[in-house]
Amino acid sequence: MKEEFSVTPWDIKGDIDYDKLIKKFGVEPLTPSLLKRIEKTVGESHFMLRRGIFFAHRDMEWILDEYGKVKGPQQEKFFLYTGRAPSGPVHIGHLVPWVFTKWLQDKFNAELWFQFPDEEKVLMKQDITFEDTAKYLKENMLDVIALGFNPKKTHFLIDTKHANLMYKEACKVAKKITFSMVKASFGLNEQSNIGSIFYTAMQAVPAFLPSILSKRETPCLIPHAIDQDPHFRLTRDILPKLGHYKPASIQCSFLPPLQGRGKMSSSEGTAIYTTDSPEDVAKKINKYAFSGGKDTLEEHRKKGGNPDIDISFQYLRYLFEPDDKKLEKIYKDYKSGKLLSGDLKKMTIEKINAFLKDHQEKRKHAEQFLNAFILETND
Ligand code: TRP
Repeated sequence: MKEEFSVTPWDIKGDIDYDKLIKKFGVEPLTPSLLKRIEKTVGESHFMLRRGIFFAHRDMEWILDEYGKVKGPQQEKFFLYTGRAPSGPVHIGHLVPWVFTKWLQDKFNAELWFQFPDEEKVLMKQDITFEDTAKYLKENMLDVIALGFNPKKTHFLIDTKHANLMYKEACKVAKKITFSMVKASFGLNEQSNIGSIFYTAMQAVPAFLPSILSKRETPCLIPHAIDQDPHFRLTRDILPKLGHYKPASIQCSFLPPLQGRGKMSSSEGTAIYTTDSPEDVAKKINKYAFSGGKDTLEEHRKKGGNPDIDISFQYLRYLFEPDDKKLEKIYKDYKSGKLLSGDLKKMTIEKINAFLKDHQEKRKHAEQFLNAFILETND
Protein backbone atom coordinates (compact mmCIF):
# COMPACT_ATOMS: atom_id res chain seq x y z
CA MET A 1 0.00 0.00 0.00
CA LYS A 2 1.17 3.50 -0.73
CA GLU A 3 1.96 5.58 2.30
CA GLU A 4 -0.11 8.68 3.04
CA PHE A 5 1.17 11.91 1.55
CA SER A 6 0.53 15.53 2.30
CA VAL A 7 1.16 18.70 0.31
CA THR A 8 0.98 22.21 1.77
CA PRO A 9 2.86 25.32 0.61
CA TRP A 10 5.53 24.76 3.26
CA ASP A 11 5.76 21.04 3.65
CA ILE A 12 5.62 17.99 1.44
CA LYS A 13 5.50 14.49 2.88
CA GLY A 14 5.38 11.01 1.41
CA ASP A 15 4.92 9.69 -2.08
CA ILE A 16 2.77 12.20 -3.95
CA ASP A 17 -0.17 10.79 -5.87
CA TYR A 18 -1.01 13.54 -8.35
CA ASP A 19 -4.36 12.05 -9.36
CA LYS A 20 -5.46 12.04 -5.76
CA LEU A 21 -4.14 15.57 -5.35
CA ILE A 22 -6.33 16.79 -8.24
CA LYS A 23 -9.38 15.55 -6.33
CA LYS A 24 -8.18 16.74 -2.96
CA PHE A 25 -7.42 20.27 -4.14
CA GLY A 26 -10.34 20.43 -6.57
CA VAL A 27 -8.29 21.46 -9.59
CA GLU A 28 -9.26 20.29 -13.08
CA PRO A 29 -7.08 17.90 -15.05
CA LEU A 30 -5.63 19.32 -18.28
CA THR A 31 -7.57 17.32 -20.84
CA PRO A 32 -6.36 16.47 -24.38
CA SER A 33 -9.03 18.78 -25.82
CA LEU A 34 -7.87 21.70 -23.69
CA LEU A 35 -4.26 21.03 -24.71
CA LYS A 36 -5.39 21.10 -28.34
CA ARG A 37 -7.16 24.38 -27.78
CA ILE A 38 -4.01 25.94 -26.32
CA GLU A 39 -2.01 24.66 -29.27
CA LYS A 40 -4.56 26.00 -31.73
CA THR A 41 -4.59 29.39 -30.04
CA VAL A 42 -0.84 30.04 -30.08
CA GLY A 43 0.23 27.81 -32.96
CA GLU A 44 2.34 25.36 -30.99
CA SER A 45 2.36 23.20 -27.91
CA HIS A 46 4.96 22.95 -25.14
CA PHE A 47 6.74 19.77 -24.11
CA MET A 48 5.71 20.28 -20.47
CA LEU A 49 2.08 20.19 -21.57
CA ARG A 50 2.54 17.20 -23.86
CA ARG A 51 4.34 15.25 -21.15
CA GLY A 52 1.87 15.99 -18.38
CA ILE A 53 4.39 17.95 -16.31
CA PHE A 54 1.81 20.71 -16.21
CA PHE A 55 -1.19 18.56 -15.43
CA ALA A 56 -4.00 20.61 -13.89
CA HIS A 57 -5.66 24.04 -14.00
CA ARG A 58 -8.44 26.28 -12.83
CA ASP A 59 -10.39 28.32 -15.40
CA MET A 60 -7.91 27.94 -18.24
CA GLU A 61 -10.85 27.81 -20.66
CA TRP A 62 -11.95 31.23 -19.48
CA ILE A 63 -8.46 32.66 -20.07
CA LEU A 64 -8.54 31.35 -23.63
CA ASP A 65 -12.04 32.80 -24.11
CA GLU A 66 -10.82 36.19 -22.95
CA TYR A 67 -7.73 35.95 -25.11
CA GLY A 68 -9.88 35.18 -28.14
CA LYS A 69 -12.22 38.10 -27.52
CA VAL A 70 -9.95 41.10 -27.80
CA LYS A 71 -8.24 41.84 -31.06
CA GLY A 72 -5.12 43.92 -31.40
CA PRO A 73 -2.05 44.09 -29.18
CA GLN A 74 -2.74 47.40 -27.48
CA GLN A 75 -5.12 46.06 -24.91
CA GLU A 76 -4.03 43.64 -22.22
CA LYS A 77 -6.04 40.41 -22.47
CA PHE A 78 -4.67 38.77 -19.41
CA PHE A 79 -1.50 38.98 -17.41
CA LEU A 80 0.70 36.27 -15.91
CA TYR A 81 1.67 36.07 -12.28
CA THR A 82 4.20 33.79 -10.59
CA GLY A 83 6.82 34.10 -7.84
CA ARG A 84 9.69 32.92 -5.72
CA ALA A 85 10.30 33.35 -2.00
CA PRO A 86 14.05 34.02 -1.67
CA SER A 87 15.52 31.70 0.95
CA GLY A 88 18.38 29.94 -0.77
CA PRO A 89 20.01 29.47 -4.16
CA VAL A 90 17.90 28.50 -7.15
CA HIS A 91 18.00 24.83 -8.14
CA ILE A 92 16.87 23.12 -11.33
CA GLY A 93 13.51 22.21 -9.78
CA HIS A 94 12.61 25.88 -9.50
CA LEU A 95 13.18 26.32 -13.23
CA VAL A 96 10.32 24.04 -14.29
CA PRO A 97 7.42 26.50 -13.84
CA TRP A 98 9.56 29.47 -14.88
CA VAL A 99 10.64 27.94 -18.20
CA PHE A 100 6.97 27.34 -18.94
CA THR A 101 5.99 30.84 -17.81
CA LYS A 102 8.55 32.30 -20.22
CA TRP A 103 6.94 30.30 -23.01
CA LEU A 104 3.50 31.60 -22.02
CA GLN A 105 4.80 35.16 -22.00
CA ASP A 106 6.25 34.78 -25.48
CA LYS A 107 3.29 32.96 -27.01
CA PHE A 108 0.55 35.13 -25.52
CA ASN A 109 2.63 38.31 -25.53
CA ALA A 110 1.55 38.80 -21.93
CA GLU A 111 2.77 40.99 -19.11
CA LEU A 112 4.31 39.01 -16.25
CA TRP A 113 4.22 40.04 -12.61
CA PHE A 114 6.88 38.17 -10.69
CA GLN A 115 6.55 38.34 -6.92
CA PHE A 116 9.53 37.98 -4.59
CA PRO A 117 7.93 37.68 -1.14
CA ASP A 118 11.11 38.36 0.80
CA GLU A 119 9.27 38.11 4.12
CA GLU A 120 7.66 34.70 3.46
CA LYS A 121 10.50 32.45 4.57
CA VAL A 122 11.48 34.79 7.40
CA LEU A 123 8.01 34.18 8.81
CA MET A 124 7.88 30.47 8.02
CA LYS A 125 11.36 29.22 8.82
CA GLN A 126 12.91 29.47 12.24
CA ASP A 127 16.48 30.06 11.02
CA ILE A 128 15.95 32.49 8.13
CA THR A 129 16.52 36.20 8.66
CA PHE A 130 16.02 39.30 6.53
CA GLU A 131 19.79 39.38 5.98
CA ASP A 132 19.55 35.96 4.34
CA THR A 133 16.60 36.88 2.16
CA ALA A 134 18.22 40.14 1.02
CA LYS A 135 21.22 38.21 -0.25
CA TYR A 136 19.18 35.51 -1.99
CA LEU A 137 16.68 38.01 -3.35
CA LYS A 138 19.31 39.45 -5.64
CA GLU A 139 20.81 36.06 -6.52
CA ASN A 140 17.35 34.68 -7.34
CA MET A 141 16.39 37.69 -9.46
CA LEU A 142 19.50 37.09 -11.59
CA ASP A 143 18.34 33.52 -12.27
CA VAL A 144 14.91 34.71 -13.32
CA ILE A 145 16.35 37.36 -15.63
CA ALA A 146 18.75 34.80 -17.15
CA LEU A 147 15.78 32.77 -18.38
CA GLY A 148 15.08 35.50 -20.92
CA PHE A 149 11.88 37.16 -19.77
CA ASN A 150 11.01 40.32 -21.67
CA PRO A 151 12.24 43.28 -19.55
CA LYS A 152 9.58 45.56 -21.03
CA LYS A 153 6.78 43.21 -20.01
CA THR A 154 8.07 41.77 -16.75
CA HIS A 155 7.66 43.45 -13.38
CA PHE A 156 9.34 42.27 -10.19
CA LEU A 157 7.30 42.95 -7.07
CA ILE A 158 9.33 42.70 -3.86
CA ASP A 159 7.08 42.56 -0.81
CA THR A 160 9.18 44.72 1.54
CA LYS A 161 10.26 47.14 -1.18
CA HIS A 162 6.79 47.54 -2.66
CA ALA A 163 4.99 47.43 0.67
CA ASN A 164 3.57 50.89 -0.03
CA LEU A 165 1.65 49.47 -2.97
CA MET A 166 0.87 46.08 -1.53
CA TYR A 167 0.09 46.35 2.15
CA LYS A 168 -3.22 48.14 1.90
CA GLU A 169 -4.46 45.64 -0.68
CA ALA A 170 -3.26 42.73 1.47
CA CYS A 171 -5.26 44.09 4.39
CA LYS A 172 -8.41 44.16 2.28
CA VAL A 173 -7.83 40.48 1.50
CA ALA A 174 -6.89 39.61 5.10
CA LYS A 175 -10.09 41.17 6.37
CA LYS A 176 -12.04 38.47 4.49
CA ILE A 177 -9.98 35.54 5.80
CA THR A 178 -10.45 33.90 9.18
CA PHE A 179 -7.89 31.76 10.98
CA SER A 180 -10.05 28.68 10.51
CA MET A 181 -10.02 29.21 6.73
CA VAL A 182 -6.23 28.94 6.55
CA LYS A 183 -5.50 26.49 9.33
CA ALA A 184 -5.80 23.08 7.68
CA SER A 185 -4.74 23.76 4.10
CA PHE A 186 -1.64 25.66 5.21
CA GLY A 187 -0.69 23.30 8.03
CA LEU A 188 -1.01 26.04 10.66
CA ASN A 189 -2.12 25.69 14.28
CA GLU A 190 -2.55 27.70 17.48
CA GLN A 191 1.21 27.78 17.94
CA SER A 192 1.89 29.29 14.50
CA ASN A 193 3.19 32.85 14.53
CA ILE A 194 0.64 35.43 13.44
CA GLY A 195 2.79 36.57 10.49
CA SER A 196 2.50 33.12 8.96
CA ILE A 197 -1.27 33.34 9.28
CA PHE A 198 -1.36 36.72 7.49
CA TYR A 199 1.12 35.83 4.76
CA THR A 200 -1.34 34.36 2.23
CA ALA A 201 -2.93 37.80 1.93
CA MET A 202 0.36 39.12 0.52
CA GLN A 203 0.56 36.31 -2.01
CA ALA A 204 -2.96 37.15 -3.19
CA VAL A 205 -2.11 40.76 -4.04
CA PRO A 206 -0.28 40.38 -7.39
CA ALA A 207 -3.33 38.55 -8.76
CA PHE A 208 -5.23 41.89 -8.81
CA LEU A 209 -2.70 44.70 -8.19
CA PRO A 210 -2.09 45.14 -11.94
CA SER A 211 -5.83 45.71 -12.38
CA ILE A 212 -5.75 48.41 -9.73
CA LEU A 213 -2.65 50.10 -11.16
CA SER A 214 -4.01 50.11 -14.71
CA LYS A 215 -7.53 51.00 -13.51
CA ARG A 216 -8.92 48.22 -15.64
CA GLU A 217 -9.99 44.80 -14.41
CA THR A 218 -7.74 42.33 -16.21
CA PRO A 219 -7.83 38.52 -16.02
CA CYS A 220 -4.84 36.84 -14.40
CA LEU A 221 -3.25 33.44 -15.08
CA ILE A 222 -0.94 31.95 -12.46
CA PRO A 223 1.48 29.19 -13.54
CA HIS A 224 2.81 27.48 -10.41
CA ALA A 225 3.82 24.21 -8.76
CA ILE A 226 0.84 22.41 -7.23
CA ASP A 227 1.90 23.04 -3.60
CA GLN A 228 0.96 26.72 -4.01
CA ASP A 229 -2.65 25.96 -4.86
CA PRO A 230 -4.00 26.51 -1.30
CA HIS A 231 -2.99 30.17 -1.62
CA PHE A 232 -4.82 30.63 -4.88
CA ARG A 233 -7.86 28.59 -3.90
CA LEU A 234 -8.32 31.11 -1.14
CA THR A 235 -7.49 34.04 -3.44
CA ARG A 236 -10.19 32.86 -5.81
CA ASP A 237 -12.74 32.84 -3.00
CA ILE A 238 -11.89 36.34 -1.83
CA LEU A 239 -11.23 38.38 -4.97
CA PRO A 240 -14.81 38.52 -6.29
CA LYS A 241 -15.82 39.93 -2.91
CA LEU A 242 -13.41 42.80 -3.58
CA GLY A 243 -14.70 43.39 -7.09
CA HIS A 244 -11.96 41.53 -8.98
CA TYR A 245 -11.88 38.49 -11.25
CA LYS A 246 -10.95 35.12 -9.80
CA PRO A 247 -7.46 34.36 -11.05
CA ALA A 248 -7.03 31.33 -13.32
CA SER A 249 -4.14 28.98 -12.67
CA ILE A 250 -2.16 26.12 -14.21
CA GLN A 251 -0.25 23.63 -12.06
CA CYS A 252 2.88 21.53 -12.50
CA SER A 253 4.24 18.56 -10.60
CA PHE A 254 7.62 18.62 -8.83
CA LEU A 255 10.97 17.80 -10.31
CA PRO A 256 12.01 14.82 -8.17
CA PRO A 257 15.07 14.98 -5.93
CA LEU A 258 18.22 13.02 -6.86
CA GLN A 259 17.32 10.23 -4.46
CA GLY A 260 14.00 9.71 -6.15
CA ARG A 261 10.75 10.69 -4.48
CA GLY A 262 8.92 13.91 -3.67
CA LYS A 263 10.35 17.31 -4.51
CA MET A 264 13.87 18.61 -5.08
CA SER A 265 14.72 20.85 -2.17
CA SER A 266 17.77 22.72 -0.90
CA SER A 267 17.08 21.60 2.65
CA GLU A 268 17.63 17.96 1.68
CA GLY A 269 21.22 18.82 0.81
CA THR A 270 21.70 17.42 -2.68
CA ALA A 271 19.91 19.70 -5.10
CA ILE A 272 21.52 20.69 -8.40
CA TYR A 273 21.97 24.45 -8.32
CA THR A 274 22.04 26.78 -11.31
CA THR A 275 25.53 27.88 -10.27
CA ASP A 276 26.95 24.34 -10.01
CA SER A 277 30.12 23.61 -11.99
CA PRO A 278 30.17 20.79 -14.57
CA GLU A 279 32.13 18.73 -12.03
CA ASP A 280 29.51 19.31 -9.32
CA VAL A 281 26.79 18.15 -11.67
CA ALA A 282 28.70 15.03 -12.75
CA LYS A 283 29.43 14.14 -9.15
CA LYS A 284 25.85 14.60 -7.98
CA ILE A 285 24.31 12.61 -10.84
CA ASN A 286 26.88 9.83 -10.70
CA LYS A 287 26.81 9.50 -6.97
CA TYR A 288 23.21 10.20 -6.02
CA ALA A 289 20.80 10.03 -8.98
CA PHE A 290 18.52 7.08 -8.34
CA SER A 291 18.84 4.59 -11.15
CA GLY A 292 16.10 2.51 -12.71
CA GLY A 293 18.72 0.17 -14.12
CA LYS A 294 19.32 -3.43 -13.15
CA ASP A 295 22.06 -4.49 -10.76
CA THR A 296 24.25 -6.30 -13.25
CA LEU A 297 25.10 -5.50 -16.83
CA GLU A 298 23.90 -8.89 -17.93
CA GLU A 299 20.53 -8.53 -16.26
CA HIS A 300 20.11 -5.00 -17.60
CA ARG A 301 20.84 -6.09 -21.16
CA LYS A 302 18.35 -8.91 -20.77
CA LYS A 303 15.49 -7.30 -18.88
CA GLY A 304 16.04 -3.61 -19.47
CA GLY A 305 15.75 -0.63 -17.11
CA ASN A 306 12.79 1.34 -15.80
CA PRO A 307 12.88 4.93 -17.10
CA ASP A 308 9.76 5.88 -15.12
CA ILE A 309 11.65 5.73 -11.83
CA ASP A 310 15.07 6.64 -13.20
CA ILE A 311 16.00 10.12 -12.05
CA SER A 312 18.36 10.89 -14.91
CA PHE A 313 15.59 10.08 -17.35
CA GLN A 314 13.16 12.19 -15.36
CA TYR A 315 15.47 15.22 -15.54
CA LEU A 316 15.61 14.84 -19.30
CA ARG A 317 11.83 14.57 -19.39
CA TYR A 318 11.18 17.59 -17.16
CA LEU A 319 13.69 20.03 -18.60
CA PHE A 320 16.77 18.98 -20.46
CA GLU A 321 15.52 17.08 -23.53
CA PRO A 322 12.74 19.15 -25.05
CA ASP A 323 12.78 17.06 -28.26
CA ASP A 324 10.02 14.43 -27.96
CA LYS A 325 11.51 12.12 -30.57
CA LYS A 326 14.90 12.03 -28.89
CA LEU A 327 13.33 11.50 -25.50
CA GLU A 328 11.24 8.64 -26.78
CA LYS A 329 14.25 6.93 -28.25
CA ILE A 330 16.05 7.18 -24.93
CA TYR A 331 12.98 5.79 -23.20
CA LYS A 332 12.75 2.81 -25.51
CA ASP A 333 16.47 2.08 -25.55
CA TYR A 334 16.64 2.18 -21.79
CA LYS A 335 13.59 0.01 -21.37
CA SER A 336 14.88 -2.57 -23.82
CA GLY A 337 18.26 -2.77 -22.14
CA LYS A 338 20.13 -1.33 -25.10
CA LEU A 339 21.01 1.83 -23.17
CA LEU A 340 22.91 1.30 -19.92
CA SER A 341 22.49 3.32 -16.72
CA GLY A 342 26.01 4.68 -16.96
CA ASP A 343 25.38 5.91 -20.50
CA LEU A 344 22.08 7.49 -19.51
CA LYS A 345 23.77 9.28 -16.64
CA LYS A 346 26.53 10.51 -18.93
CA MET A 347 23.99 11.81 -21.41
CA THR A 348 22.04 13.59 -18.66
CA ILE A 349 25.17 15.17 -17.21
CA GLU A 350 26.08 16.53 -20.66
CA LYS A 351 22.59 17.92 -21.21
CA ILE A 352 22.40 19.59 -17.81
CA ASN A 353 25.85 21.06 -18.19
CA ALA A 354 25.08 22.47 -21.64
CA PHE A 355 21.95 24.09 -20.22
CA LEU A 356 23.78 25.48 -17.19
CA LYS A 357 26.67 26.81 -19.26
CA ASP A 358 24.28 28.94 -21.23
CA HIS A 359 22.30 29.91 -18.13
CA GLN A 360 25.42 30.92 -16.20
CA GLU A 361 26.63 33.02 -19.12
CA LYS A 362 23.32 34.90 -19.22
CA ARG A 363 23.24 35.15 -15.44
CA LYS A 364 26.61 36.91 -15.50
CA HIS A 365 25.14 39.70 -17.60
CA ALA A 366 21.80 39.82 -15.82
CA GLU A 367 22.75 42.37 -13.19
CA GLN A 368 22.77 45.27 -15.62
CA PHE A 369 19.07 44.61 -16.31
CA LEU A 370 17.98 44.43 -12.69
CA ASN A 371 16.57 47.94 -12.60
CA ALA A 372 14.62 47.39 -15.78
CA PHE A 373 12.81 44.47 -14.12
CA ILE A 374 12.12 45.81 -10.64
CA LEU A 375 8.84 47.71 -10.64
CA GLU A 376 9.49 51.43 -10.34
CA THR A 377 7.78 53.25 -7.53
CA ASN A 378 7.33 56.94 -7.00
CA ASP A 379 9.15 57.10 -3.70
N1 TRP B 1 5.27 31.03 -2.10
C1 TRP B 1 6.16 30.88 -3.20
C2 TRP B 1 7.48 30.20 -2.73
O1 TRP B 1 7.52 29.60 -1.72
C3 TRP B 1 6.49 32.20 -3.83
C4 TRP B 1 5.36 32.78 -4.63
C5 TRP B 1 4.78 34.01 -4.44
C6 TRP B 1 4.69 32.21 -5.75
N2 TRP B 1 3.82 34.24 -5.35
C7 TRP B 1 3.73 33.17 -6.18
C8 TRP B 1 4.84 31.00 -6.44
C9 TRP B 1 2.90 32.91 -7.28
C10 TRP B 1 4.00 30.76 -7.52
C11 TRP B 1 3.04 31.70 -7.93
O2 TRP B 1 8.48 30.25 -3.40
